[in-house]
Amino acid sequence: MLLPTLATGLLIGSAVCTTHVVHEKRWQPPMNRGSRLDPNAIVPLRIALKQSNLETGYDRLIDVSHPSSANFGKHLSTAEVHELFAPAAETTKTVKDWLLNAGVYPGAVKEYVNKGWLAVDVPAKIAESLLSTEYYEHDSNDGVKIGCDSYSLPAHVSKHVDFVKPGVKLSPPMKKRTLEKRQNFPHGGPPSGPRGPPGPIWQPHSPPDRNPGWHMPPGAQSLPPELQACSVNITPPCIKALYRIPNATLDTPGQEMGLYETYDAFSQADIDLFFEHFAPYVPQGTSPTVLSVDGGTAPVPAASVRNGGESDIDITLAYSLIYPQSVTVYQVDDLPNSSGMTNVTGFLNTFLDAIDGSYCGYSAYGITGDSPGIDATYPDNSNLTGAYKGQLECGTYKLTNVLSVSYGEAEAYLPKPYVERQCNEFMKLGLQGHSILFASGDYGVASFPGSNENEFGCLSAPGMNGTIYNPDYPVGCPYITAVGATRLYPNQTVYDPESAMQVNLQSGNRSAAYEFFATGGGFSNLFTPPSYQAQAVANYLAKYGPDVPSYVANSTGTNYGENGGVFNRAGRGYPDVAANGAYLLDYTNQTLEHWFGTSLSSPIFGSVLTLINEQRAQVGKGPVGFVNPTLYANPQVLNDITNGSNPNCGSSGFETAPGWDPVTGLGTPNYPKMLELWMRLP
Ligand SMILES: *[C@@H]1O[C@H](CO)[C@@H](O)[C@H](O)[C@H]1NC(C)=O
Ligand SMILES: *[C@@H]1O[C@H](CO)[C@@H](O)[C@H](O)[C@H]1NC(C)=O
Ligand SMILES: *[C@@H]1O[C@H](CO)[C@@H](O)[C@H](O)[C@H]1NC(C)=O
Ligand SMILES: *[C@@H]1O[C@H](CO)[C@@H](O)[C@H](O)[C@H]1NC(C)=O
Ligand SMILES: *[C@@H]1O[C@H](CO)[C@@H](O)[C@H](O)[C@H]1NC(C)=O
Ligand SMILES: *[C@@H]1O[C@H](CO)[C@@H](O)[C@H](O)[C@H]1NC(C)=O
Ligand SMILES: *[C@@H]1O[C@H](CO)[C@@H](O)[C@H](O)[C@H]1NC(C)=O
Ligand SMILES: *[C@@H]1O[C@H](CO)[C@@H](O)[C@H](O)[C@H]1NC(C)=O
Ligand SMILES: *[C@@H]1O[C@H](CO)[C@@H](O)[C@H](O)[C@H]1NC(C)=O
Ligand SMILES: *[C@@H]1O[C@H](CO)[C@@H](O)[C@H](O)[C@H]1NC(C)=O
Repeated sequence: MLLPTLATGLLIGSAVCTTHVVHEKRWQPPMNRGSRLDPNAIVPLRIALKQSNLETGYDRLIDVSHPSSANFGKHLSTAEVHELFAPAAETTKTVKDWLLNAGVYPGAVKEYVNKGWLAVDVPAKIAESLLSTEYYEHDSNDGVKIGCDSYSLPAHVSKHVDFVKPGVKLSPPMKKRTLEKRQNFPHGGPPSGPRGPPGPIWQPHSPPDRNPGWHMPPGAQSLPPELQACSVNITPPCIKALYRIPNATLDTPGQEMGLYETYDAFSQADIDLFFEHFAPYVPQGTSPTVLSVDGGTAPVPAASVRNGGESDIDITLAYSLIYPQSVTVYQVDDLPNSSGMTNVTGFLNTFLDAIDGSYCGYSAYGITGDSPGIDATYPDNSNLTGAYKGQLECGTYKLTNVLSVSYGEAEAYLPKPYVERQCNEFMKLGLQGHSILFASGDYGVASFPGSNENEFGCLSAPGMNGTIYNPDYPVGCPYITAVGATRLYPNQTVYDPESAMQVNLQSGNRSAAYEFFATGGGFSNLFTPPSYQAQAVANYLAKYGPDVPSYVANSTGTNYGENGGVFNRAGRGYPDVAANGAYLLDYTNQTLEHWFGTSLSSPIFGSVLTLINEQRAQVGKGPVGFVNPTLYANPQVLNDITNGSNPNCGSSGFETAPGWDPVTGLGTPNYPKMLELWMRLP
């Protein structure tokens, strides 16, 4: 019965008669449909099996992350996480049986290591009969692809399958939406660009000139010289004093701190200059380990246009707080397609592929792998300099225990299934003991200036022109720790309470939308408050909620502005925590400047967690992992910030308040208290 001429080992039997149900259907036939596929052409069928247990992911994460759980700290291995979410044995068996009953030779059905897929190469005529469909050739930019307008599966199989490739995937459902959202960025900033502070603020170098009219606060006179000007010149000694962080001494292998960078790249000459002036205990020439993801490159010469400050700052802050521990930079995406440079709106998937091979093929919510039109795709078939010609990197690197990411974009740019799938990956990383931190944004209740066709980066709805708050992503994902920014006022010292970061940069050459910086905060339109946060959010809204109309987001998160509401009162609130993000002195292009933004806050908070992980490792304890459940249950280990707000979108935004608020979260680190807590926990 075996047909030896078919290398795929196919057995052609008469198809078993079963009831088929339409599994996927294209909205409309593609415009460039070609001819019917040759019946003997080999079609590489890839069947995406439904993952199991995704709905239990949150509870599992809480189980290993909540301090009151008996399983606190018992993180899972990568293999265990794969196993946990792998399709159920019944799923695999049902789909395999269907193929075998249709006549496919058992050896021809291949299972992927990550268990998410079954693969079988079959002639088109068999594929067509299996799926009750017809395959056509389509012209696409990348040459001819095959696909069908709709296909069916037996009812009992359909419920175990996310989808079949090649199926209707030629026209990804999210692609059109992304194109519709594409726009000019009048101020040159792409939506997913780095949270870059907007450049030089004051040119002169010495503090009096840089801060005209500044007088040393009376309370500062008795402080050591390095702490006297912290209200206008933040340096490592100021940060250590603010959060009572001791000088680091450990360099335990495996506790390196991770930083995500894309397009922006550090300059060794710049970081050396910072070490020389502000952290002399870090030897000249100290460099992060650079892991290139899909062709990313670093460092660059100081004068390079890619040296925009973000990477320099992330690296100098981390090193100055954790040295002798070292820093690992994941430099993501090749040059032509670095997220900061092209119009692809996605900026995290290629990174997630590189640190978790199973993510490359992971499917959920009908999306598998990366999304053309949203994510960069590799090999890069462009002829641009620096194009990465290798295969997409899958599982190439191990992720550090702590990762800080000072990049983000408007949540409304991305389709919900895309966001949910990515957010689930953060859940899986949390289960494995990683702490993932994101800067919460710099424009108050708005996203980047220019986002969503609005000068200030606010959302609009009929009759509401740019007055709706625009939550950021990925800080809306409940499985990451969102870090907001704080500041001191000029007449204060490091021993005064900080306020929410708000500052008018008055650089003179940019629009007002860029000049007013305020720490990013608000409520997601796509995620509801996780249990660890529900009480904190309810308390805030009941006692301190703003006097503006709100709405409840619908299941697609697209009804913003409903009934005149400007924010989703049923959303996950962010940030979770905060740290200083104003007046940092740092060198970029060999020039000393003041820097502002949550870009500063996230690496500071990440450094604190790294130091705690080191101490835990000393006594044989595992990493702190996903910290939110522990922090919401123990807010006393943070300094509550109760002054300031995050205005934008024509409103005063949210006000800080006692306890959690959508401006500075639970507050800034109190290192000794955090350490004491985590040394007590198992
Ligand atoms: C920490 O290091 C700084 C600079 O090396 C030094 O001035 C300071 O005394 C140290 N602090 C402690 C508590 O050892
Ligand atoms: C860096 O500084 C040099 C010298 O001032 C200047 O020529 C160059 O344009 C600067 N680079 C950038 C990217 O601004
Ligand atoms: C990005 O989109 C803008 C506006 O549509 C266009 O001018 C620009 O050329 C695009 N850039 C790239 C790299 O495709
Ligand atoms: C890189 O960007 C160029 C220009 O926008 C585009 O033509 C090319 O397809 C992109 N390559 C990848 C791999 O995304
Ligand atoms: C790169 O490709 C574009 C269009 O695909 C073409 O116009 C251009 O001449 C090419 N450049 C080089 C250096 O090959
Ligand atoms: C919306 O507001 C902007 C200024 O923020 C203005 O330029 C634009 O014309 C307004 N659009 C409408 C439809 O009123
Ligand atoms: C700083 O000045 C403000 C008002 O100008 C005042 O309310 C505050 O008490 C001062 N703070 C300190 C520490 O002197
Ligand atoms: C504004 O731009 C002008 C000309 O490009 C430049 O001379 C000036 O220094 C800039 N001002 C600031 C505050 O950056
Ligand atoms: C959510 O609201 C938007 C805007 O009113 C609407 O277009 C969309 O259909 C709604 N989605 C659902 C699932 O109700
Ligand atoms: C509180 O914040 C306001 C700005 O919102 C600032 O003017 C004031 O100085 C701050 N007060 C203190 C005590 O920090």
